[in-house]
Amino acid sequence: MHSNRPVGVFDSGVGGLTVAAGIRGLLPGEALVYFGDTAHLPYGDKSAHAIREYVQQISSFLKDSGCKALVVACNSAASVLEPDFADKLGLPVIDVIDPVVRMVSGDPSLKRIGVIGTRRTVQSKVYSNGIRKLSPDKVVFEVATPLLVPLIEEGFLHNAASRLILKHYLEQLPQIDALILGCTHYPLLTGDISELLPDVRLIDAPQVVALELEHILEERALLNPDETSSTTFYVSDRTEVFEQMASHFFGAEIHLREHPLP
Ligand code: DGL
Repeated sequence: MHSNRPVGVFDSGVGGLTVAAGIRGLLPGEALVYFGDTAHLPYGDKSAHAIREYVQQISSFLKDSGCKALVVACNSAASVLEPDFADKLGLPVIDVIDPVVRMVSGDPSLKRIGVIGTRRTVQSKVYSNGIRKLSPDKVVFEVATPLLVPLIEEGFLHNAASRLILKHYLEQLPQIDALILGCTHYPLLTGDISELLPDVRLIDAPQVVALELEHILEERALLNPDETSSTTFYVSDRTEVFEQMASHFFGAEIHLREHPLP
């Protein structure tokens, strides 16, 4: 049994394309429908109830588009999901936080873990609570790094400004073994962060989430055995700037279609 229905992937904007690119790399046969809620970004400073409302609208759109599974490729959205979200939606849901929490919790070499993310994600304590629950001997330190998303979106990578701001944030962390990049955009800063924290293992979501998706699709006999497939990209507000940014985050030229939310 298999299914050639698409997998829905969504984020507040174009950052989730780092996750979509990870899925595309591991599972080239899976058709993807990506949705970036560019009309409402950033989610990182929004209230939990506002984000849940947007997530509801996007999930309905992706389900109505025939998606067989949903990837919540936004840490801020994943951090406020209700526990019964997948049951209510009636689709398998993979988010960017749970698989990372399980991976880190199961690695005995990691004792002291740092997390950086948006204010919404850090305030939710979803990483600390999740890791402590599975592995109470680990210590987790979370720091909100709200300037990083606009910095990355403006292309401030590998330069004096990005290093200065990163240094300011990373100095707030004590000695750690690993740092979770708890935001869709941060994989683009891996080079800068490694220079500042050369002995710290950096953990980001795209690979881990792609593997988790593969596992879930396989378990439910939903994998698509085709060799190549298409990706359709929607945003709730389309501009040239988003289109350029989207191609940069996805690592290939893409075209965005506009689909305003109700
Ligand atoms: N995608 C968001 C996240 O991973 C970052 C951008 C935003 O704040 O909307 O938390």
